[in-house]
Amino acid sequence: MTEIEQLQEIIDASERIAFFGGAGVSTESGLKDFRSADGLYREKYKYPPEYMLSHECFVRHTADFYEYYREKLLCEGILPNAAHYKLAELERAGKLVGVVTQNIDGLHQAAGSKAVYELHGSVLRNYCTNCGAFYNDGFIKTHAPVPYCEKCGGVIKPDVVLYGEQLDDETVRGAVRCIRVADTLIIAGTSLTVYPAAGLIDYFSGKNLVVINRDPVYASNALFICGKVGETLGKIVVR
Ligand code: APR
Ligand code: ZN
Repeated sequence: MTEIEQLQEIIDASERIAFFGGAGVSTESGLKDFRSADGLYREKYKYPPEYMLSHECFVRHTADFYEYYREKLLCEGILPNAAHYKLAELERAGKLVGVVTQNIDGLHQAAGSKAVYELHGSVLRNYCTNCGAFYNDGFIKTHAPVPYCEKCGGVIKPDVVLYGEQLDDETVRGAVRCIRVADTLIIAGTSLTVYPAAGLIDYFSGKNLVVINRDPVYASNALFICGKVGETLGKIVVR
């Protein structure tokens, strides 16, 4: 039996699938991931890449932060790929309990997914650090170098978890609930190297663990499919 046939059999037999994804889920939509050979973290920049996306950089070098953020993370015209659409289809069929993602691109919701736990937030939501006013990603794109609040003049910050910041409690609780109740957990497009996000998969105690990743990733007792997650899920039939 091929790996795709094994995955199809698992999905056919599953009633409560949870999905845990990372930047590799969006590379087939044209976004770079972080740690692959061609990832964002391999590029040279004014400061080390993980500093560029830190709370300290946002506070101390706000204009540099926004220059990097706009160039590398606020990408125009990105669309969901087969992975996003298949997960939304599984949810509509009542087979998927939720998507837990480390991504901030909003592509799961754009593909129609409703139960999405964005552990690292979203570029689509931005708030004034002073009065809390909401701004969309378009405002950030058009108000360089630093976007200021039109109501009070405060600095606007993306609703993205930067290095050194805490994850949102309610989002984490929802993600844990989703993983806990799952009979199948599909992990895809992630190096599982960033905590606490990566640690959430330890809450899984269901029957089937599947990993779909371009590079090898260790997860014990998993069906490991070495390949592209969009290509792989695109071959799955939802019945
Ligand atoms: N299909 C499957 N796997 C893929 C694909 C693809 N199309 N493209 C890339 N990958 C794999 C890569 O092989 C790599 O193992 O996805 C993984 C991406 O790993 P990272 O770049 O480390 O991304 P991620 O795991 O999401 O990083 C976690 O780190 O910098 C922080 O906050 C950032 O959320 C991010 C977190
Ligand atoms: Zn304000």
